[in-house]
Amino acid sequence: MLFSSSFVSAAFMMLSSVTALPHPEGGGLTARAGLCAPGSYIFNGTTCAFCPAGNSCDGASGRAHPCRSGHYQPSGNSTSCIATVPGYFQNAKGANSTIPCPAGSYQPYPAQALCYGAPMGRFQSMPGQATLCGTCCGWAAPLESSNISPVNCTGATPNAWPSSGSGCIRDTIPCVRATTCAQFMNGTCPAETFSG
Ligand SMILES: *[C@@H]1O[C@H](CO)[C@@H](O)[C@H](O)[C@H]1NC(C)=O
Ligand SMILES: *[C@@H]1O[C@H](CO)[C@@H](O)[C@H](O)[C@H]1NC(C)=O
Ligand SMILES: *[C@@H]1O[C@H](CO)[C@@H](O)[C@H](O)[C@H]1NC(C)=O
Ligand SMILES: *[C@@H]1O[C@H](CO)[C@@H](O)[C@H](O)[C@H]1NC(C)=O
Ligand SMILES: *[C@@H]1O[C@H](CO)[C@@H](O)[C@H](O)[C@H]1NC(C)=O
Repeated sequence: MLFSSSFVSAAFMMLSSVTALPHPEGGGLTARAGLCAPGSYIFNGTTCAFCPAGNSCDGASGRAHPCRSGHYQPSGNSTSCIATVPGYFQNAKGANSTIPCPAGSYQPYPAQALCYGAPMGRFQSMPGQATLCGTCCGWAAPLESSNISPVNCTGATPNAWPSSGSGCIRDTIPCVRATTCAQFMNGTCPAETFSG
């Protein structure tokens, strides 16, 4: 909600002209709906108090609104909540922090309550990422979800070509087996050497 500066200063003047009551959290002024300053709310029915972290307080409504999931607010006295950025999430309401997507997951969008697990053939070794890595020739990401790192194609079919999305199978796609398929420390992914 937007306030004209004249409305805000009028609200402060009315607040400061009424009887002050002590209050540990802030305001300390006798409150009526519409009279709290932006960033504060009516506490216990009688006083304008500072908005707690994890909430937004427009002031005029007299209410503290817990941040919706996908949003957070680390500071008190706030008039709005902050949307999570890609690579991060917040599933709780009224949160004061944002959470990085764990390794093995990613989130490409802002304002999200969850992260997506890296599906078969894709992986993500680092937390807090918006994108995934693909596997290289000779390497598989065999889990249905939450692949953290690729695994070497070994065992019963050590020489089989892997197929992106399916792990190490018999598909013969011409590509040179990669010696490593690990994600770089700077977060960038190795070039995928095949797809299909
Ligand atoms: C809320 O107000 C009531 C009286 O209206 C008082 O008894 C009570 O202690 C107050 N609570 C807090 C937490 O200030
Ligand atoms: C943030 O939220 C956590 C969990 O609810 C709580 O323990 C912590 O005291 C809060 N910090 C602030 C600054 O409000
Ligand atoms: C809110 O602002 C007041 C005045 O600047 C300050 O004293 C108080 O510590 C702030 N409260 C929070 C929770 O940030
Ligand atoms: C991956 O498997 C190939 C073929 O079995 C083997 O030559 C290579 O040393 C393995 N690499 C790693 C890093 O385990
Ligand atoms: C990331 O690291 C790799 C390997 O060290 C390097 O080749 C690449 O240029 C780096 N990319 C960026 C964007 O820094």
